[in-house]
Amino acid sequence: MTRQILVTSALPYANGSIHLGHLVEYIQTDIWVRFQKMRGHDCRYMCADDTHGTAIMLRAEKEGVTPEALISRVWDEHTRDFAGFHIGFDHYYSTHTEENRALASKIYLALKDAGLIEVKTIAQMFDPVKKLFLPDRFIKGECPKCGAADQYGDNCEVCGATYSPTELKNPVSAVSGATPVHKDSEHYFFKLGDCETFLREWTTSGTLQDEAANKMQEWFAQGLSNWDISRDAPYFGFEIPGAPGKYFYVWLDAPVGYMASFARYAADRGLDFEAWWGRDAKTELVHFIGKDILYFHALFWPAMLKFSGHRLPTAVYAHGFLTVNGQKMSKSRGTFITAASYLEAGLNPEWLRYYFAAKLNGSMEDIDLNLDDFVARVNSDLVGKFINIASRTAGFIHKNFDGRLADRIEQPELLAAFQAAAASLASHYESRDFGRALREIMALADRANQFVADEKPWELARQPEAAARLHQVCTVALNCFRLLSLYLKPVLPELAQKVEAFLAVEPLAWDHVNTLLLGHSINEYTHLMTRIDPKTLTAMVDANRQNLAPAPAPAPARHAEAQTHAARPAAVTIADTISIEDFARIDLRIARIAGAEHVEGADKLLRLTLDLGELGTRQIFAGIKSAYAPETLVGRLTVMVANLAPRKMKFGMSEGMVLAASGDAPGLFILSPDSGAQPGMKVK
Ligand code: 2FM
Ligand code: ZN
Repeated sequence: MTRQILVTSALPYANGSIHLGHLVEYIQTDIWVRFQKMRGHDCRYMCADDTHGTAIMLRAEKEGVTPEALISRVWDEHTRDFAGFHIGFDHYYSTHTEENRALASKIYLALKDAGLIEVKTIAQMFDPVKKLFLPDRFIKGECPKCGAADQYGDNCEVCGATYSPTELKNPVSAVSGATPVHKDSEHYFFKLGDCETFLREWTTSGTLQDEAANKMQEWFAQGLSNWDISRDAPYFGFEIPGAPGKYFYVWLDAPVGYMASFARYAADRGLDFEAWWGRDAKTELVHFIGKDILYFHALFWPAMLKFSGHRLPTAVYAHGFLTVNGQKMSKSRGTFITAASYLEAGLNPEWLRYYFAAKLNGSMEDIDLNLDDFVARVNSDLVGKFINIASRTAGFIHKNFDGRLADRIEQPELLAAFQAAAASLASHYESRDFGRALREIMALADRANQFVADEKPWELARQPEAAARLHQVCTVALNCFRLLSLYLKPVLPELAQKVEAFLAVEPLAWDHVNTLLLGHSINEYTHLMTRIDPKTLTAMVDANRQNLAPAPAPAPARHAEAQTHAARPAAVTIADTISIEDFARIDLRIARIAGAEHVEGADKLLRLTLDLGELGTRQIFAGIKSAYAPETLVGRLTVMVANLAPRKMKFGMSEGMVLAASGDAPGLFILSPDSGAQPGMKVK
């Protein structure tokens, strides 16, 4: 039976470039969609740019362009990058469109009619200079729990506390540097709490992965808060009907963008919108997302759909984050790799598609791009195993048999095994366990290579009496190659196209596994894929490496940072004078960095073990991760504040502080004494 499936990936924000982290999701979705299409299903892949919000408005202002001009430029960049990685959207739209305005307004009005919207006055942080209510990430200040400076308005990176921006100490606006004031304003809320019965049932109905369903239980246990869906002008978005000066919060109209993208696509093709989005739609609706936006897709979105009279998602598939070489992507390490820079370096997009596919297993676990493993895996699997089968056998068909494959297969066992693998491979693709599919495909490739190695066509070719055998061997091998190409086609669509041209066959579809290529003329083999040159990869990482300055100072007044002075920009003026006695109270010591390691879950911190000679050792957490790889620190001497009161942090006790310099220019520099200094020496 032909399935009708509408598939989406999360809509990327229109204020940044597509990077490899994004691509995990688009590649995952694209493989799944291509698989469904190969199976003959009616599958439509919808996406769009997510264009609204304060961040985009401010960025446009900074660039001196209108938000419309900015989002149009970014749309061009995004679609170019996606095409470069063969992401085959059926429609890529924008949330800043009339379809989206109409649908978001309609949904909102339906929720209002259902009694699910309430208006409340709340106090929020307001930038009195910019005359703008500040989103959490545009407010910085000291953590109300641990006092760490330079923390965002919603959570502390140092101690992990979450809070509301109104609780921050000494808050500053990151937009103007002004001290924000509390200001009252009317906000519109979606009463999520009233949807709890429905949501409890829906989230346990099999729509979510088990890990996601478990997460839901935690959220239910915490209680569902009503959701603030309005923002005050100035805001780049859609004005709320009947509420002048109030705009839909970007996250209200973003998922509606899935629908709007389809609405435009359907209108252009005469498809029935209701059959896909109406309450009784029989079609499937499948959302691919990152685990960080599960809350929106498993709570807000189904509740919005349900109570505005629409169909519900059939599945929400969340994936994990991407790490590079085992760590969070980092601009200073050059591992925050943009899609464009990957392609500009001349790297083949299908290498990455293959590698990501090999790592994906349908769970929410993070996946790691290890650059050495990437080179080894792609070169060994794709070139060494897969391509090799054709490159070692195709030439004989041309030289000896006029380009024509044998009419029949005398020993069909190997090919029968290849054909028999189809069902299991299909079930792995269906369940997004691409890693397992590729392992099984590569095991088949191993068998084909073994067959070629055993039969030695290059030796058969030297014996005129073995011509028939040579014809058999090469025909079997090329049929194996054809089936492998078919199985790999969702992952490697461009390569599959080249194979189709080489074998002179129609576009491969899944049910072609049931046929073999016999008595058929093929084209001359031309090389299908090269190996990765590790030097190209190194050059790309270098090109992405940015010597980053710490976040620019949003405000003139700065306060001491908990772990290191260096995480804050240099003060513009010299601080107030202190007495020599004041200074003498600070016990500065030479320390040897005996150990340095990453702290799981911390973006900025390294855990240092400092050796103070006879004074013992100390553990401290230093916000220097952006500037130093831990292994480069071990053994070096530095200066620490030894009598700073120990501070309990999320990751453990921090017993002091290392000194480091930073300023307006890029870089972060920990201090070192001249040679000869010994651990434990006093610095005066
Ligand atoms: O997290 C993000 O990048 C959002 N722009 C995703 C939106 S997905 C959907 F809901 F629109
Ligand atoms: Zn804190």
